[in-house]
Amino acid sequence: MTPEYQTLSEVFAARHSCRGFRPGPVPREVIEQIVATAGRAPSWCNAQPWQLIVTTGAETDRFRAALQAQVTGEAATAGSATAAPGAAPDLPFPTGYSGPYLDRRRTCGWQLYEAVGVGKGDRAGSARQMLENFRLFGAPHVAIVTSPAELGPYGAMDCGGFVTAFTLAAQALGVATIAQAALAAQAPFLHSYFSIPDDRLVLCGISFGYEDPDHPANGFRTARAEVADIIDWKA
Ligand SMILES: Cc1cc2nc3c(=O)[nH]c(=O)nc-3n(C[C@H](O)[C@H](O)[C@H](O)COP(=O)(O)O)c2cc1C
Repeated sequence: MTPEYQTLSEVFAARHSCRGFRPGPVPREVIEQIVATAGRAPSWCNAQPWQLIVTTGAETDRFRAALQAQVTGEAATAGSATAAPGAAPDLPFPTGYSGPYLDRRRTCGWQLYEAVGVGKGDRAGSARQMLENFRLFGAPHVAIVTSPAELGPYGAMDCGGFVTAFTLAAQALGVATIAQAALAAQAPFLHSYFSIPDDRLVLCGISFGYEDPDHPANGFRTARAEVADIIDWKA
């Protein structure tokens, strides 16, 4: 065990998805430091396909309001005030979850609902919690992550590494994060709102800021598979 490994593993262990932020902003220099560190992530041919739109100050609130209006407007058109609107991502969403993936998906969903007091079968409560995504969980900033369309799934893969690096660099600086595919579901709106050209794919959002440690949604931690369940040794 080296001191570097000790520090790194502590940062990995402490990071979790934050779903309740305090409103105070993160200084621009800190955001730039996070991005500079995350930019050390590897990418195929060192293409570094990631680009970010980062909102700050009043723009975060303008965007939050416009996004919520967009999503609740869609839900109303679909005939429900709280229903999840139809997804229209640039990158196709998973076609299904089965076996251990379904189990893990269900478990983390139940953990969240239990933490915020949404009981099984409470569809209005779960819809309300889902809509928190579009309030950016109260975060003072959101980063919209895009990748060049021509790089396809490998560009997206490189950006996934960048997103992870962003969350860890942020954690090491005391900044909480949550990656959000929920925002990618609103890709047409995001293209139009931020003038994102069609040759870039909207991959996800990362809401970030300082954690509200007392928020119930931050009161649980997700589990991980055993190493033996990950490695298939060939010797
Ligand atoms: C690409 C990606 C997209 C995600 N999208 C959402 C989302 O839309 N809403 C949400 O509440 N959490 C989202 N998450 C957070 C995951 O649910 C979370 O990472 C997972 O349950 C593990 O928990 P942890 O991050 O607290 O360790 C996303 C995570 C990733 C990596």
